[in-house]
Order: sequence, then C-alpha cells, then structure tokens
Amino acid sequence: MDICVIGAGYVGLVTSACLAYLGNQVTAVEANPDRLGSLKKGLVPFFEPGLQEFVKETSESGYLKFTDSLDSAVKAADIIFIAVGTPSLPNGEPDLSQVMVVARAIGGALDGSKRRIIVNKSTVPVGSGNWVEMLVSQGVQNAQPVPARASRAENPSFTVVSNPEFLREGSAITDSFYPDRIVVGASDEQATATMKKLYEPIINQTFDAPSFAKRPEGFKHVPFVVTDLASAELIKYSANAFLAMKISFANEIAGLCEKVGADIRQVAQGIGLDYRIGKAFLNAGVGWGGSCFGKDVSALMQVAKEYSYPTSLLEATVSVNERQRLVVIKKLQEELKILKGRTVGLLGLSFKPDTDDLRDAPAITIAYQLLKMGASVKAFDPVSNDKARVQHPNLEITYCDNAAELAQDCDALVLVTEWEVFKNLDFKTLAKGMRWPLIIDGRNVLNEQDIVDAGLTYRGVGH
Ligand SMILES: NC(=O)c1ccc[n+]([C@@H]2O[C@H](COP(=O)([O-])OP(=O)(O)OC[C@H]3O[C@@H](n4cnc5c(N)ncnc54)[C@H](O)[C@@H]3O)[C@@H](O)[C@H]2O)c1
Repeated sequence: MDICVIGAGYVGLVTSACLAYLGNQVTAVEANPDRLGSLKKGLVPFFEPGLQEFVKETSESGYLKFTDSLDSAVKAADIIFIAVGTPSLPNGEPDLSQVMVVARAIGGALDGSKRRIIVNKSTVPVGSGNWVEMLVSQGVQNAQPVPARASRAENPSFTVVSNPEFLREGSAITDSFYPDRIVVGASDEQATATMKKLYEPIINQTFDAPSFAKRPEGFKHVPFVVTDLASAELIKYSANAFLAMKISFANEIAGLCEKVGADIRQVAQGIGLDYRIGKAFLNAGVGWGGSCFGKDVSALMQVAKEYSYPTSLLEATVSVNERQRLVVIKKLQEELKILKGRTVGLLGLSFKPDTDDLRDAPAITIAYQLLKMGASVKAFDPVSNDKARVQHPNLEITYCDNAAELAQDCDALVLVTEWEVFKNLDFKTLAKGMRWPLIIDGRNVLNEQDIVDAGLTYRGVGH
C-alpha cells in the first residue's frame, strides 16, 4: 500500500520504517528542516536502539522516503498517518495545534482520485476523530475556489480512524513488530478491513523478523481490537494513566515501607506475583516521566473536567509522582544535613534508559531543585548530555564524560536513570575521588552490598 506518515519523530519514524520493512511504499513528511536534512542523509536525529540501521536499511531498499511536501505525499497515499506531537499546554490540556495544521493541510491536498483513510496515531483527546474529520473537510473546502466549488459527489472521499500507539522509547522497534495488541477505532467497516490488511503481517507474524528485532519465542499472534472512535482514544489515555498509577502506587507504599521498616522490593515481588496485579511497573524510585505519562494523565483529567467528572485517582497519581521526584533531596538532607555548597553528581538524565528523551525527566526536576537549594550539580548520561545542554541552556550543571569524572569531589552520587552501565560501576574506585561517601539509588537497581563493601553509604527508596 502507499502510506504517508506526517511527523517523523519517535512514533512517526518508527512507524514509517516498520511499515516500509513490511513492503509498503512509505513517505514520511517532516516539517523540521534540520530533522528532515538528517533523515535524508540517513541519520536519525535522536537515540533509539537499532533505529539508525533500520532507517538506513529501509531507505536504501527504496520503500522509505522523506519529504517536506505534504501535498504530494498525501496525493499518492492510500493511508495517511498523523504522528505529530501533542505536548501539554501549561494548563494541562494537550496542545493540538500541530494536529490542526496537519489535518487542514491534508484536506487541502486531497483529490478525488481515491478514498483515503486518515489515521490519528498521535495521542489525542476523546472526540478528536470527529474534530479531525471536520478540519480535513474545512481544508477541502478552503482549497476549492468558491465559484468552482465541487459538488458533494465530487468531493474527495476520506474517513478518519484512530490507531493509538503503544510503543515505548528504548524498545520502539520490538514493540512495533511484537505489540500486545493493535487497536483500531472506526465507524467504517471498509476502513477497518483495510487497516487489518495493512497490519496482517504483524497480526499473524508472517514477516521475516529483522536481525535486530528478533521475534520472541512462541510469539504467534497479535489481537486486533476494533472499537468505536471514542473508545480507541480513551484506551490510549487509560492505558498510560493506569501504568502511571501503578508506579505511583508502588511509590506510595515505598514511603510507608520506610516508616514501618519493610522493604518495597520484597513487597512489590509479593504483590506482583498475583497475576491479577502483575510484576511490571511496581518499581519504586524517583517516579515516572517522559513525553507521555504526565501529558496523557493531564489530558485525561481535562477531558473529565469538561464533563464535570471527578478524577481523584488520577489527581493522586500525579501528586504522588511530584512528591516522589524530590524524595532523593530529602534523603540527601538527612545524610548531608546542609545542601548549600555541596556537590551532587547525577547518574543519568534521560527519563529512562535507552533513550535520549529528556521530556519531563525526573533528573531535570531534581537538578533544578538542587541548584535552587544552593548545591552544585554535575551529571553524566551515556547519551543525553549534549541534548540537555541544548534543551536546558539555563541549567547550570557540569556535564561529565564518565562516572569517574562525575564522582570526583562529589558529596553524593544520585542514580536517577537506571542505565545498564551504571549497575556495574566500580564503586571502590569512584569512592576514592568523592568528598563524602554517599550513594542515593533513586531506582533501587544497585547492589547495596557492593556499595557498602566499597566504603560508601547506600540509601535506596522504600527500604
Ligand atoms: N514518544 C513516545 O514514546 C510515544 C508513544 C506513544 C504515543 N506517542 C504519541 O505520538 C505522538 C508523537 O509523539 P513523538 O514522541 O513522536 O513526537 P515528536 O515530537 O518526537 O515528533 C513529532 C514530529 O512531528 C513533526 N511535525 C510537527 N508538525 C508537522 C507538520 N506540520 N508537518 C510535518 N511534520 C510535523 C515534528 O517536527 C516532529 O519531528 C504524540 O501524540 C505522542 O503523545 C508518543
């Protein structure tokens, strides 16, 4: 099929490369000239494991192309994916301006040559399917000079479906090829059937697995969930809200563990083995972040507010998380007493490992708070240092190239992002350079005994 994907960010680029790998002719439209320039040269402008090689391979095969011409890409396409950003506005509502511009532009580019499916892949609030349909229609009308306005029968024919994305940064390619489910919300059976055909190789796992995204053993089938538009939109928000709530729940119990002398790691294991609860997302620590959880929980609360519907669980999910980010500061105060004039080294900046994404990253909140309290802050992240320099020019921290440089003259190290390399650091050597021997393990991933044996004080979260 001919596919157009608008927005070549984390979601759009991975979607484009996967659909191209499956043999579709994909054109990814990107408006940011720097991003487009890099992609045309075969360079992925952000860090996602395996994506660089994957994009190069699919581009060289001729199935994936990049352009800034939305008009020609839309005209050639059978299916048009909208994958632009929907960041939060200061009041918590999602900023839908990118979707609005794109939807109108699609309308302006449509012609009557075939019936198109327009897919909302961006995470958008309930009702956006209908809203996008209206905007596309406006685009269609605006593109036609009034005297020559086409009759209803000649108008370009299209339908809007919702196909929320559930990939996780850090494992985006694997998540796209081997998802837990594919959700399509539509009111048009023909469109649903076409979407099913597009995803058939993934649904029935009939494609040859790429070498860098091996098929998990026994993985044979992906549920294809068909819903109405509003339900598909709500599934995406509810899934993220539930995951965020699970982490906040673990963090709330972690605080109680510290009071009563219990260990959240043991508690989480004990409750996670109950299949109704599950083990994932029960890790206590400095809380959740990233481009999706905070914005999607806020957007869900905003939708509920429009209907005067109370969302106490969601509010608690957010407030526990806000408190949790600063738990490491409390621990630093307990150990060091005075933070003014101290030097704190942050291990990790990105919101989670295997990505360079700093959107709503706990490390950034912690760094700003420490600076506000008069401490000096150093940081080392295996991939995000440069991005942090560019995206947070006012954050006066010293960036280091390795853990040894970071530890030098620090009064404490705080592990914020659980990068694999941090789990095997030589703490004995690091301790030699430190001014005060303290490690705060903000993700409960370090080996406490190794750290104590290295002569350092260890503090985790919830134990
Ligand atoms: N990042 C994730 O892990 C993730 C996971 C699931 C869902 N989502 C959702 O997917 C959507 C996209 O997220 P993302 O992280 O890929 O965002 P992103 O900001 O990384 O990418 C969006 C891209 O769209 C481009 N763009 C904006 N306006 C454009 C236009 N008019 N024409 C062409 N390109 C345009 C931007 O330049 C950017 O490259 C969001 O709604 C997000 O909530 C993200």
